[in-house]
Amino acid sequence: MDNYQYNDGELYCEQTPLAEIAEKVGTPCYVYSKRSLVDSFDSYDSAFSPVERMICFALKSCANLSVIRLLAERGAGADIVSRGELFRALKAGVPGERIIYSGVGKTRREIAYALESEIYCFNVESIPELDLIDRVAGEMNLTAPVSLRINPDVESGTHEYTTTGKKETKFGIPYDQALDCYRKTASYQHLRVMGIDTHIGSQIVSTGPFVAAYEKIARLFRELVDDGFDLEFCDLGGGLGISYNDEVPPTARQFAEAVLPVAGPLGCRIVIEPGRSISGNAGVLLTRVVHYKQTEVKNFAVVDAGMNDIIRPSLYGAYHRIEHVARPDSRDQVTLDVVGPICESGDWIARERTMPRVNAGDLLCVYSAGAYSATMASNYNGRPRGAEVLVDGSDWQVIRKAETLDDLIRGEQL
Ligand code: LLP
Repeated sequence: MDNYQYNDGELYCEQTPLAEIAEKVGTPCYVYSKRSLVDSFDSYDSAFSPVERMICFALKSCANLSVIRLLAERGAGADIVSRGELFRALKAGVPGERIIYSGVGKTRREIAYALESEIYCFNVESIPELDLIDRVAGEMNLTAPVSLRINPDVESGTHEYTTTGKKETKFGIPYDQALDCYRKTASYQHLRVMGIDTHIGSQIVSTGPFVAAYEKIARLFRELVDDGFDLEFCDLGGGLGISYNDEVPPTARQFAEAVLPVAGPLGCRIVIEPGRSISGNAGVLLTRVVHYKQTEVKNFAVVDAGMNDIIRPSLYGAYHRIEHVARPDSRDQVTLDVVGPICESGDWIARERTMPRVNAGDLLCVYSAGAYSATMASNYNGRPRGAEVLVDGSDWQVIRKAETLDDLIRGEQL
């Protein structure tokens, strides 16, 4: 994990000891390395520098205002899927012209807000959605910029829940209907067709599925140009995986080298929507062991983070590497489950993990928690969400305070 390393047996993020953060802000808490976020964004930016590009960070992976602002200052746009994410993007300073709006269920209210905010484009996923955007734009006396998200029907080799480019999924317009659908856009009064879009899934660890999808999209793009469409951009989506355990995903450069020969010759602006590959390995979750519990059949480290703080293991069976923040002196190993305090047997962070012996009070670091961890957190079981911290060398700042008990009941009435 970039920028997380031991010095004298103590785990640091950049030049900051993680124990110091946990001590001051409490656990569980999320920590992000500024260096790692910036370097990952910059590596995309330079890998795609041969083409005119717009790199729209997928806010769903990590939506803290400070993180968005950091990336926006380096030129990032935002890939959003809700009015809440639009609000965040604008608050963080992302200009409307760098915002792409994806998602299958944009409501009238959301569409109106995005039109008011003059976003770059809506990635539209169905004919009913085209109808609705046209209607709302008409009522507002505006023209809505749209591109069609095409479902290329390719296998991405990732988890079923994060596969989005197979025809059985709810996403996009089926490839075979795409040309007709583009032609139908001529009948709308309040739409301007600007581009083409696809997204085939998340945590994809080889370039093959991307290339297969983009070859189909490039073919369609050329048919559309022959048909008289003037397309300004091609949005290749996000989805590049990261290493959680022993995966060896392509780097941004390898990704660009594989996909630019297919998409570059289209001669249009290339949009990408990376999320996890920018934020995932920039962040960790710190959690403290509450109890070490042994039963006849198992050992458990009961920690103070639960599935409400990091749901990926419970939801996808995901692996997250875990290490002690203070490296134990003893070489003794133990096989255990790392579990949270929540009243569900699915509340686990690691299962049958062999690691150095764990004791109550130990501080543990759960790696690769920069993406889809804080953004998927909830208050389940009456649990306030932990703080978020951004580290910059030996400086660090709380970029979201830990929630209080009052936060838990905000808006409720007796
Ligand atoms: N663009 C669109 C339209 C998406 O749906 C997604 C992710 C992305 C971009 C960013 O994908 P990334 O580069 O982060 O892979 N909660 C799951 C991941 C769900 C991803 C959904 N869409 C997880 O924790 O693995």
